[in-house]
Amino acid sequence: MISFARKPAMYGAASLRVLDLKPRVEDFQSAVVAGLSAAPKAIPPKFFYDKRGSDFFYRICETPEYYVTRTELGMLDDLGAEIAALAGPAASVIEFGCGSAEKIRKLLAALDAPADYVAIDISRDHLLASAEEIAIENPNLNVSAICADFSQAFELPDDFCDGSGRRVAFFPGSTIGNQTPAEAEGFLRHVRSVVGAGGALLIGVDLKKNVDRLNEAYNDAAGETAGFNLNLLHRMRTELGCDVDPERFAHRAFYNVALGRIEMHLASLGAQTVCLDGQDFAFADGETIHTECSYKYEIAEFADLARRAGFGVRKSWTDAERLFSIHFLEA
Ligand code: AVJ
Repeated sequence: MISFARKPAMYGAASLRVLDLKPRVEDFQSAVVAGLSAAPKAIPPKFFYDKRGSDFFYRICETPEYYVTRTELGMLDDLGAEIAALAGPAASVIEFGCGSAEKIRKLLAALDAPADYVAIDISRDHLLASAEEIAIENPNLNVSAICADFSQAFELPDDFCDGSGRRVAFFPGSTIGNQTPAEAEGFLRHVRSVVGAGGALLIGVDLKKNVDRLNEAYNDAAGETAGFNLNLLHRMRTELGCDVDPERFAHRAFYNVALGRIEMHLASLGAQTVCLDGQDFAFADGETIHTECSYKYEIAEFADLARRAGFGVRKSWTDAERLFSIHFLEA
């Protein structure tokens, strides 16, 4: 089951091990056909992140309105020593989904001689590229990559985490917000089983706050979030040969107070029909495709969720403006 990226590639003292669980990657076309056939129409947010979409997301993070990424990065800088003390020496860091390498770099640099780093991601190319980078930069770190859908149960091979320290899972970015609270609970339970007794989870969670502030973060003036959302239609045109005209849809994002979540939609400008793979999909004027939920939590709400999943909250931090939170949870 364990294969090597190339010969056990040697970077200083470290080698990169790869475990490919061959995750079933749901293809874009079947997801879109299913999503446009459903009522209400919806397409899952994981399809945002092709190259063009990832570039839009990078630019969202640079907008003044989207506070999430810059706030979390600032907190990781400030909390390095405290997190290192909680994690202890020779920790095994397990990252669920590797996004930008910037956050894991900060964490690894802050920790006291971390022993292992395990990256888990569904996208093989992205996974291997980032794990390789980390291995090159950290010659004393035992680096492994697991190609898997991180929301599905899997077991860590023993030699991926053979350090003497504790297992610390890392799930930054408030990515947990894309799941419903019920899904998030199930996911945390799975993380709990991966880190085992004595393990921990360092997780970034966006907070409930002033509604205008939330709405602005998902409706930036430069239109990067709109471009990110509309990129789904662009992908449908270029990859699936769908005749959808992105100009005939509008970006809609709003905070749903009752459900505690930002919702992103693509709203049809007028009644229209789009054709995909010989099938017609009718839109009423104003009808939307629901493209993302981004749940926001109160500190206490998230602590309850974590407890239901088998974690205790060792420490929670917020930034000075109470925009974002980071939690050190213990199994
Ligand atoms: C990467 C899922 C945390 O929900 O804020 C940013 C994605 N969507 N702007 C979020 C996103 C619109 C982001 N997450």
